[in-house]
Amino acid sequence: MEIDRRAFFAFLGGPAAVAAMSHEAKADGLEHYMAFQLNQAKANESKAGGAKKFPTVAEIDAQIETRGNRRGVGNLFLSSTGHVTKLPPMPEKSTLADFFKLRFKATSNHVLQSANRAMQNGMSEEIILACLLHDTVQDLIKVDHGWWGAQMYEPYVSEKVSFAIRYHQALRFYEDKEHGYEYPDLYRRMFGSDYKPEPYIEATYQMVRNHKWYLEPRMVTVNDLYAFDPKVNPTLDQFVDIIGRNFKQPKEGLGFDGSPVAHMWRTMIWPNNFL
Ligand SMILES: [Fe+2]
Ligand SMILES: [Fe+2]
Repeated sequence: MEIDRRAFFAFLGGPAAVAAMSHEAKADGLEHYMAFQLNQAKANESKAGGAKKFPTVAEIDAQIETRGNRRGVGNLFLSSTGHVTKLPPMPEKSTLADFFKLRFKATSNHVLQSANRAMQNGMSEEIILACLLHDTVQDLIKVDHGWWGAQMYEPYVSEKVSFAIRYHQALRFYEDKEHGYEYPDLYRRMFGSDYKPEPYIEATYQMVRNHKWYLEPRMVTVNDLYAFDPKVNPTLDQFVDIIGRNFKQPKEGLGFDGSPVAHMWRTMIWPNNFL
């Protein structure tokens, strides 16, 4: 893909913003820019061609053996440039904000945009927090990210927040137009046009659909963003108070509080440790 340097700089917020960015942030920015360009190209293509063309499940399966990694691997273990980069060290007692700044590089813009949207739509603090956290575990692991994410956050957030994180994964495959959720084209592209969720996803959906907290994960899917919007670049600052009121930061730092999920945080602190 050809990169228009000026457009890329504008996308990142202008030359001054680019000058202040680390190499890693620039590489991430480039990855987002290319994903965005790709989305645009695909949208134009389908507009021009009338009907949209999506791959089938069989076509996506056929790509498996052409790849160097499995699609479920976490972003911290992958490279968009051919080699991974050195990660900045984490503070001794890391907070959630430290992880946003130093480890959630690939997911933070997406979740900040989702939380920003939830805030503008007048959602509860718990839903805003769930939106802010909902995909961050994908820096650790992508497969079954709703369950992994809920588990990783469970000791630090309310039951409603972890419920919303866990089940947004299943709900995103099922439309609910009444509440403003349509099945996104991105999934037709990622999972295949004829994709049918596994029976455990269907069963989970049925359970959550009839649960008194159904709207918690549903609102995460409604405020989720399925395209990278270069015009919106929210920062963590606007969510600091919500985090303070709804996230129990362990005083020993995430990864060192002896909780059943501490190892998950340590894995993100030191993803280069080979055993
Ligand atoms: Fe998600
Ligand atoms: Fe998401």
